[in-house]
Amino acid sequence: MTEASLAAHAAAGRALIRDKALVAGHWVAGDGAVEVDDPAERTRLGSVPRLSAAQVEEAVAQAAAAFADWSRRKPVERGRFLSAWADRVDAAEQALAALISLENGKPYAEALGEVRYANSFIRWFAGQAERMDGEVIATSAGDTVLTFKEPVGPVAAITPWNFPAAMITRKAAAAFCAGCTVVLKPASATPFTALALAELALEAGLPPGAFSVVTGDQAVIGGVLTGSPLIRKLSFTGSTPVGRLLAAQCAPTLKKLSMELGGAAPLIVFEDADLDVAVEGTIKGKFRNAGQTCVCPNRIYVHARVREAYLDRLAAAVAALKVGKPFEAGAQIGPLIDDKGLAKVEDHVARTVAAGGRVLTGGARHALGGGFYQPTVLDGGDDEMFLHEETFGPVAPVFAFDSDDEAIARANASEFGLAAFVFTRDLDRAMRAARAVEAGVLGVNSGLVSNAANPFGGVKQSGYGREGSVYGLDDYVQVKSVTLALR
Ligand code: SIN
Repeated sequence: MTEASLAAHAAAGRALIRDKALVAGHWVAGDGAVEVDDPAERTRLGSVPRLSAAQVEEAVAQAAAAFADWSRRKPVERGRFLSAWADRVDAAEQALAALISLENGKPYAEALGEVRYANSFIRWFAGQAERMDGEVIATSAGDTVLTFKEPVGPVAAITPWNFPAAMITRKAAAAFCAGCTVVLKPASATPFTALALAELALEAGLPPGAFSVVTGDQAVIGGVLTGSPLIRKLSFTGSTPVGRLLAAQCAPTLKKLSMELGGAAPLIVFEDADLDVAVEGTIKGKFRNAGQTCVCPNRIYVHARVREAYLDRLAAAVAALKVGKPFEAGAQIGPLIDDKGLAKVEDHVARTVAAGGRVLTGGARHALGGGFYQPTVLDGGDDEMFLHEETFGPVAPVFAFDSDDEAIARANASEFGLAAFVFTRDLDRAMRAARAVEAGVLGVNSGLVSNAANPFGGVKQSGYGREGSVYGLDDYVQVKSVTLALR
């Protein structure tokens, strides 16, 4: 892609920026504004309104009113709407990708990949809308039980900044498919993509009250959404401490919850692994979005016999990654979202070196300045910190192990259990590891586990609930059973 075409995309992305929130089809202002920055240029991109509690309550009331209509629509109608929404997202994909790059900083090509990933959820749930089948069960008393999957009710969704489009569609598309309505609070760092997606959904025929995007103060909005008895489910993606807080706030109204929380994913390279495949998988998993995903490998365990060969290849491949601004041709690694993220990465590298680790490549801020950090490979030191703290940056720490049991024990030593990755050519070993590793999502010979058809979610302190797939849909329904006593 040429610099000129990238500049044209950037302009199209900028044209999508709205400085209002979207409540029941109306663009509304608030009491003050929340500034949104461009993390690559470190300039002000725009702002969104700081809605009052009363305005958020209005969005909730409208979602409840719209639920009465949307939940009764025929499955075929809900499927048609989702297809029409997906068509609009397809048509706008370049501008949406540019908008993601502007507010999140990820390279344009990667942002385009995210829009397609985001849209795959809409398309997948469009197909699923007509397959909300229940069961027929025979009881021991000779009665017949019918089960119906009914939409759980109006849903609140709270989404993070690392995937400004995909984290929205994988919640909202499942919700609309089930017959739920949605009030969405996007991350304050990346609200514009959410607003653009919601605008497209309304253009595609969704009743206005069925999708509101509320912006502003996290505590105010979170307080209303978690406290309202009208909201019947909360789906949250973010950190474990915030997830715990939200779950506690939802307890008095007993909402159904989906919590996609932190991870500290292990990646294991067994001694029989194809090292080229392992290195490729490590790069894809670890350096996606500059290492800012919940499923990025946070700690890499390599069998001592192949450690050196793996490290040589990994360090060479990582050193070749191109760090650049989002609209720079060929850019692969963008900036970290903010100074806090940068400080954490620097801290993890410094602590690893202090513990005896070596920097094989990278290990410092990038010459581009701002939030840019060099893609880094670390060898050795102590893995203890990486069990408990997500680096959320482009740093691959590698540790040696001597036996399969040791690798599995280290993998499971973390309180988190979102994703895990194993590389081996031995099917028995792969299956043993797959069964033994405590994670919700596991990749074998693959660094990417994200797909609309794949049930995505964690165990232990990484949360509960699943997104994507039929399991993801189940999170938005409740089962009603009807007993037929046939005489
Ligand atoms: C996340 O980082 O929370 C999600 C990553 C993904 O969907 O691949």
